[in-house]
Amino acid sequence: TKPVTLSTLKQMKADKEKITCLTSYDASFTNVMNVAGVETILVGDSLGMVIQGQDSTLPVTIEDMCYHTAAVKRGNSNAFILADMSFMSYSKPEQALDNAARLMQAGANMVKLEGGSWLADTIKLLSQRGIPVCAHLGLTPQSVHKFGGYKVQGKSQDAADLLLQESLDLVAAGADILLYECIPTELGKTLTDAVPVPTIGIGAGHHTDGQVLVMHDMLGINLGHTPKFVKNFLTEGRNVTQAFEAYVKEVKDTTFPGPEHGFK
Ligand code: KIV
Ligand code: NA
Repeated sequence: TKPVTLSTLKQMKADKEKITCLTSYDASFTNVMNVAGVETILVGDSLGMVIQGQDSTLPVTIEDMCYHTAAVKRGNSNAFILADMSFMSYSKPEQALDNAARLMQAGANMVKLEGGSWLADTIKLLSQRGIPVCAHLGLTPQSVHKFGGYKVQGKSQDAADLLLQESLDLVAAGADILLYECIPTELGKTLTDAVPVPTIGIGAGHHTDGQVLVMHDMLGINLGHTPKFVKNFLTEGRNVTQAFEAYVKEVKDTTFPGPEHGFK
């Protein structure tokens, strides 16, 4: 099968075909995801929790991200690989460029960073240097201590308006994908309709152009609390490949996420 590229993903938005994404941190699961037809793979800094057993993503380093990105790359045949930039690895534009380059050389096809309009200069610099960027907005877990917990974002009209403005600013700066975490379902629709680039959601309802879940969550093997937006796909006697296939099917036919996985 042909490699999935940014052009593929943009065409999928235009064609209203849902984009599937799961996190992976190693070669073996990446290969199984390829077999199941998952188009994009996120090497998430959620590896701090699910691989390292930390209680947040803050302790993860850029070296950790490069190590897991390289492992995913070796197991991958055709999926598009996004890699998270770790906490404080992109707090200044030049530093962001150096660290993004390391992830790209480790095998990423795109880097993801968390934040709003303050990231515009950084995104502009990376884009100009040929590095595709995904901006992660809404609940940004690297800011958990500032938020005072993992909370749904964009609930008030002002917060929703700000999220729209920040999204447009980041697209203008060169962001190629926007990822929204834990926002009301209706806001997920507003934002997806408003921006020209693909949107991927987690806890953002079924209107976004794509969906992502942490692999361990959707296999029902996460260590901590299971968020409302998670569904366990490793049920009904399925094996791991079949669980990934069921996820792909349900995202494509929009049965996942259902209303019970969304926020008002
Ligand atoms: O690190 C991660 O797994 C993520 C997803 C939850 C979007 O950023
Ligand atoms: Na992340």
